[in-house]
Amino acid sequence: MPAVSQFAADRVAVQRALDLFCARWLNHMAPLTAEAVRYALLGEGKRLRAILLLEASRACGGPTHAYALAAAVEVVHAYSLVHDDLPCMDDDDVRRGRPTVHRAYGVDVATAAGLAMVPLAARSAYHAAIELGLNAEEAGGVVRTLMQASGGGGMIGGQLLDLEAEGVHLTLDAMERVHRLKTGALIAASVMLGAQAARASEERRQALAHYGAAIGLAFQIADDVLDVTATTDELGKTAGRDLALAKSTYPALLGVEGAIERATALVEEACAVLQAEGLLTPTLEQLARYIVERRN
Ligand code: IPE
Ligand code: IPE
Ligand code: MG
Ligand code: MG
Ligand code: MG
Repeated sequence: MPAVSQFAADRVAVQRALDLFCARWLNHMAPLTAEAVRYALLGEGKRLRAILLLEASRACGGPTHAYALAAAVEVVHAYSLVHDDLPCMDDDDVRRGRPTVHRAYGVDVATAAGLAMVPLAARSAYHAAIELGLNAEEAGGVVRTLMQASGGGGMIGGQLLDLEAEGVHLTLDAMERVHRLKTGALIAASVMLGAQAARASEERRQALAHYGAAIGLAFQIADDVLDVTATTDELGKTAGRDLALAKSTYPALLGVEGAIERATALVEEACAVLQAEGLLTPTLEQLARYIVERRN
């Protein structure tokens, strides 16, 4: 993350909120499944989606400490990684610098752990929203945002399209759709959840939705670029995996330079939209720029 102490402090607070999530929500689960969920959640993630939620809420004058809600987004994200790495998907051995969940616990436990995380994310998001002072209808809206972004019309839908696109030549438009769904949707939802926590106006929500969608797409373009330009050590996951799986990626279609240019243009677009709405805080700008400048 950028060398800004606020982000470091937020990462620590989100980590603590994830510990609390485990303590509060995993009790009724089979012990091995609970252990696998804990393993998936407590690895070294950047916690970018959580931080985006926190910063969007702050930019709108909302709660500054929405850590439990931010943790719920990270639960959905961590689940998506557990399943993304399964042999029937990207078949990866390394994640966050250590064996993937199915490598550590077996495919059956990893599959169950991932599935178990989704309803818990929904329940904990509702609980967190109520604790932030939202009413039942607003808290329901929070859960709807999170679950819509995660489902067949969002992340899962994009993941299926991504698998179908292996070995296939997609047009730029078709690939953009895959990337917007599989990765952009949850990132955009993270930003929107910050706006919802803050009870932001419709104008502000629209600007943040545009910002979130643009940086969400930029995030996956940068992920594709890093797959070819960074090492497994830097990434904490297997470099070069996209080529090995014949994935449809931005560098494959536009070249590394072209992909970086497209991601940079999206970041500028995202910042301009917030600027026009008077919402471009230094932190939201730094987060957008970090998305294309990061090395992991
Ligand atoms: C990786 O996401 C999966 C993609 C959507 C590309 P991150 O790069 O945010 O992964 P962590 O949470 O930091 O491990
Ligand atoms: C993953 O995209 C998107 C998810 C919804 C998890 P990738 O398959 O490119 O993510 P990495 O590179 O394995 O982290
Ligand atoms: Mg994948
Ligand atoms: Mg993958
Ligand atoms: Mg990738």
